[in-house]
Amino acid sequence: MTVSKSVLLKQLPTDLDRDRLPNHVAVIMDGNGRWAKRQGLQRIMGHRRGVDTLKNILRCCKDWGISALTAYAFSTENWGRPSEEVEFLMMLFERVLRRELAEMIEEDVRIRFVGNLAGLPQSLQAEIERSMTATKDNRSVQFTIATNYGGRQEILHACRAIATQVQQGKIDPERVDEELFERHLYTKGLPSPDLLIRTSGEMRISNFLLWQLAYAEIYVTQTAWPDFDREEFHAALRAYQNRDRRFGKVKV
Ligand code: IPE
Ligand code: IPE
Ligand code: MG
Repeated sequence: MTVSKSVLLKQLPTDLDRDRLPNHVAVIMDGNGRWAKRQGLQRIMGHRRGVDTLKNILRCCKDWGISALTAYAFSTENWGRPSEEVEFLMMLFERVLRRELAEMIEEDVRIRFVGNLAGLPQSLQAEIERSMTATKDNRSVQFTIATNYGGRQEILHACRAIATQVQQGKIDPERVDEELFERHLYTKGLPSPDLLIRTSGEMRISNFLLWQLAYAEIYVTQTAWPDFDREEFHAALRAYQNRDRRFGKVKV
């Protein structure tokens, strides 16, 4: 790539309004398997290509000034897939983390994993711990990866934690409000996503961020995740900027 083209790519496309960008974008990275099949490849090759897409979109967030990106990498339901695919994914997460950590530190990216992390392989848990600790003070982009994540399970986890504190007399039930509840979610400290992107056409949430997506704008593209590039992301942001976010109100 020539220097001038790479400089151009870093700039926010001129038809986007810098002041109305989403603060937080969430993505359901779907369609890796179908993409691979269409190329006559094994499903796992789609997951491998999906990693490149994620890196590219993360870089794009940094270049364009979007401060939080959350990606759905593995759901609590995904354990139901063939064991070879599950094992491949766990190995891939670990390998990618190890390979990319130095660059994430250099790029000032804060990495956070959300989900039932204790249910992941020990060696992956160790890599996750290392990456979260090493990047905890980074500020350019908050990059969250949902792994062994389920929205219902997250809500139950919060309920149990709050119930225990109520039982111990530490919290008055009257004080359980939205703000307190959010402090018990895995995503504590992150703003709710403004935009949810789902690739590969499915019109569902698949147990992702059930609480946090309450008022997110939803954008679904037919493009499979391995083919989701800067142009596609640009199109999603353009669509987002054309939405009228009413939050239940009416214009007077
Ligand atoms: C998304 O792609 C990645 C994960 C769920 C890990 P899929 O693997 O769901 O791909 P499709 O939906 O079968 O094409
Ligand atoms: C959602 O995709 C989960 C991830 C992207 C990690 P799935 O492919 O698992 O969702 P369903 O099965 O189509 O609902
Ligand atoms: Mg899928």
